[in-house]
Amino acid sequence: MSSVRETTHDPSKSWRFLGFPTIKSSDIFNVVVKTTLVVFTVLYVSVFFYYSFSNQVQLPSCPHCDRLFSHRKFSDIHNNISADSHEKTNISHIMFGIAGSAKTWYGRRSFIELWWKPNVTRGFVWLDEKPPANYTWPETSPAYKVSADTSRFNYTCWYGSRSALRLTRIVKESFELGLDNVRWFVMGDDDTVFFVENLVTVLAKYDHNQMYYIGDDSESVEQDMIHSYNTAYGGGGFAISYPLAAELVRILDGCLDRYASLYGSDQKIQACIAEIGVPITKEPGFHQVDVKGNPYGLLAAHPLAPLVSLHHVNSVESLFPSLTRLEALKRLVSAYKMDPDRTLQHSFCYDLNRNWSVSVSWGYTLHLYPSLVTAKRMETAYLTFKTWKTYKDEPFTFNTQPLSQDQCERPIVYLLDRVEWVGKDKTLTTYKRQWRNVLETTCETDDYSAALDVQQFNVSSTTLKSDIWKMVRTTISFSTTLLSLYA
Ligand SMILES: *[C@@H]1O[C@H](CO)[C@@H](O)[C@H](O)[C@H]1NC(C)=O
Ligand SMILES: *[C@@H]1O[C@H](CO)[C@@H](O)[C@H](O)[C@H]1NC(C)=O
Ligand SMILES: *[C@@H]1O[C@H](CO)[C@@H](O)[C@H](O)[C@H]1NC(C)=O
Ligand SMILES: *[C@@H]1O[C@H](CO)[C@@H](O)[C@H](O)[C@H]1NC(C)=O
Ligand SMILES: *[C@@H]1O[C@H](CO)[C@@H](O)[C@H](O)[C@H]1NC(C)=O
Ligand SMILES: *[C@@H]1O[C@H](CO)[C@@H](O)[C@H](O)[C@H]1NC(C)=O
Ligand SMILES: *[C@@H]1O[C@H](CO)[C@@H](O)[C@H](O)[C@H]1NC(C)=O
Repeated sequence: MSSVRETTHDPSKSWRFLGFPTIKSSDIFNVVVKTTLVVFTVLYVSVFFYYSFSNQVQLPSCPHCDRLFSHRKFSDIHNNISADSHEKTNISHIMFGIAGSAKTWYGRRSFIELWWKPNVTRGFVWLDEKPPANYTWPETSPAYKVSADTSRFNYTCWYGSRSALRLTRIVKESFELGLDNVRWFVMGDDDTVFFVENLVTVLAKYDHNQMYYIGDDSESVEQDMIHSYNTAYGGGGFAISYPLAAELVRILDGCLDRYASLYGSDQKIQACIAEIGVPITKEPGFHQVDVKGNPYGLLAAHPLAPLVSLHHVNSVESLFPSLTRLEALKRLVSAYKMDPDRTLQHSFCYDLNRNWSVSVSWGYTLHLYPSLVTAKRMETAYLTFKTWKTYKDEPFTFNTQPLSQDQCERPIVYLLDRVEWVGKDKTLTTYKRQWRNVLETTCETDDYSAALDVQQFNVSSTTLKSDIWKMVRTTISFSTTLLSLYA
């Protein structure tokens, strides 16, 4: 019905208001209103630590430390650098190690199959025992391996499970399979959904010939205080570059008993990597999803970074209240497949004729406020969830805002209904009014009733190119215009 408008903005201007043609509210549903939407963002310049890989490793005094003294020089242990080592990292360079169990497999298999690409993604799901002989292992799933026995290792965390030992060793058992051309070992759980193209985009930013440990914290501060802020949480998944994996594998079994008291495999891995002297590199697209209840607010305010993973997909509430958890994820993935880089990316726009503010979290949800709302407020996550362990309102490792008691400060919520191509590199996402959303407002002012007449938004956009994320390393901020919006 309308052409897609694309404008390039002066990056020095963080936003710009553009007027709408005036329309009668009765026509709102049908009339196409165009506005230019400014995607503006603040990118955080990551600080990269460069450290030397020398023989001098500082060690605590302990009975097994002799195993650590003979570190070989970095250049001796890493992959033989072959001609293709300088080619861009792609999906074939990643070896997945999925922490599974024979018990949980049947219930979680379909979540893995949401992202697993048979004959494209490489790796295995690691089980504690063989599945029953009469069970035909599906071709659409990763092949399984049965983990080696770990009974010789100590485990002393009274509230944990010995299975942590088995899961810690997945990286070692994966490495020892000796598959060709592996640059990264990526660990995840069987209730983790990876967004594979974005994972590749993120890992390709780093030199796989250096030692990297990449992932992110838990969202719940209480978890980080217990399990460490330096841990890349295993459910959100983490990536270990080949040279770091080589070193980790060498010390891992000796290391395990030193950290017998640690609860989880991810903590044990972190502790052993700390002995090598490599810090975590945090990438905000990995999501442990250590929240209870409805993760809506978390996803609707995704940080400016490619969406890499979502964990606990089987325990948090469904992302779309009218769909099952699995169907809801499929809908998010349907948008993701069209434009991986833009998925969950946040954009705001204003209609100064009506004094409306609109916030789009691409591929998932849209908020309409019949007032002018600051970007700062729109970028802040609504507290639709509680902390993981103690079920409290806070604290989290990112900023949150409570749902306002004043109904007339709440947004009107729309959720993704469909996504389609409308031209080369151009998508149209449709967001429909969502009545059963946790943020639902019952405000009855005139401003709200006019806005409540809008049943659907059509958002058209050009697909984002992965190259945009390279700017994260070199610039502090950028602004660009990529969307047109139809109400
Ligand atoms: C919105 O998009 C749908 C297709 O998904 C189309 O049928 C409808 O006409 C569009 N509405 C407007 C107002 O452009
Ligand atoms: C690297 O490759 C060369 C020949 O291709 C081989 O002789 C050498 O042993 C390899 N080094 C390592 C550390 O694998
Ligand atoms: C990935 O890169 C390698 C070079 O390292 C190349 O041989 C291979 O064809 C690429 N695979 C894909 C799926 O792009
Ligand atoms: C994977 O490849 C094998 C052999 O190349 C083939 O037999 C099998 O059907 C493929 N599986 C899928 C799910 O494409
Ligand atoms: C497999 O065998 C067990 C008994 O050994 C039976 O309970 C189960 O239903 C069988 N499963 C299938 C898929 O045939
Ligand atoms: C395991 O724990 C037992 C009992 O606490 C202890 O005697 C033993 O030395 C420990 N083994 C290792 C390898 O640390
Ligand atoms: C929009 O807000 C401005 C300033 O807050 C006000 O002057 C103007 O009258 C408002 N316009 C409408 C249509 O409400």
